[in-house]
Amino acid sequence: MGKDVIIACDFAGKQETMAFLEQFQEEKPFVKIGMELYYAEGPAIVRELKVRGHKIFLDLKLHDIPNTVKKAMAVLSRLDVDMVNLHAAGTAAMMEAALEGLTRPDGTRPLLIAVTQLTSTSQARMEKELLIEKPLPEVVLSYAELAKNAGLDGVVCSPLEAGAVHARCGAAFVTVTPGVRFADGEVGDQVRVTTPEKAKEIGSDYIVVGRPITQAADPVAAYRRCVKEFVG
Ligand code: C5P
Repeated sequence: MGKDVIIACDFAGKQETMAFLEQFQEEKPFVKIGMELYYAEGPAIVRELKVRGHKIFLDLKLHDIPNTVKKAMAVLSRLDVDMVNLHAAGTAAMMEAALEGLTRPDGTRPLLIAVTQLTSTSQARMEKELLIEKPLPEVVLSYAELAKNAGLDGVVCSPLEAGAVHARCGAAFVTVTPGVRFADGEVGDQVRVTTPEKAKEIGSDYIVVGRPITQAADPVAAYRRCVKEFVG
């Protein structure tokens, strides 16, 4: 699995996104497009970034009945993105349908990654509101296994969980991990964070980094530092 740094392009629109990416003259970073940017600009923003040579993780976290997700995934697949995701809570039938929809006529498809439990969900809320009474780390690993058995390529998880996910689901099962901060940087609203170097050590395959790069005084230097610490 090729380790890489994915920049979370959490911008409100195209103009801001382009202004940010134009600073990168020598490299073409792997970028994540989330709900905000996608809902603001639609598929055009994906096509535009693709034409400019970026790899794209489309972070739309699909969760619906299997047939709807299958059809939506077929549309996303035609956008030629490199990675998409869904909620494992949609169950195995939904994940299998998603894979079917995502697979292009030539057999290729983007990587399909599952969200297990959102990092904003606490043990207490999961128990009280979702009626799931198992310990959260166990739920995360169990959902990861469900995703693996459904044929998915990996999960989004905390870098601190990447080792346990690999232990349960195998070295080839991809871990995509947000919650990364430089040792001397601001933590912001993230709680369980680690450095790019430590994420590499624990076994993350892709780190998703937003503000430490997008809000840096010199984003290109911050990106290069991330790559150096994480990829080596
Ligand atoms: O700015 P920051 O580095 O915290 O950005 C992390 C990115 O990863 C954001 O786009 C955030 O929505 C996303 N993310 C996360 N935690 C998750 C899933 C996604 O921080 N569990």
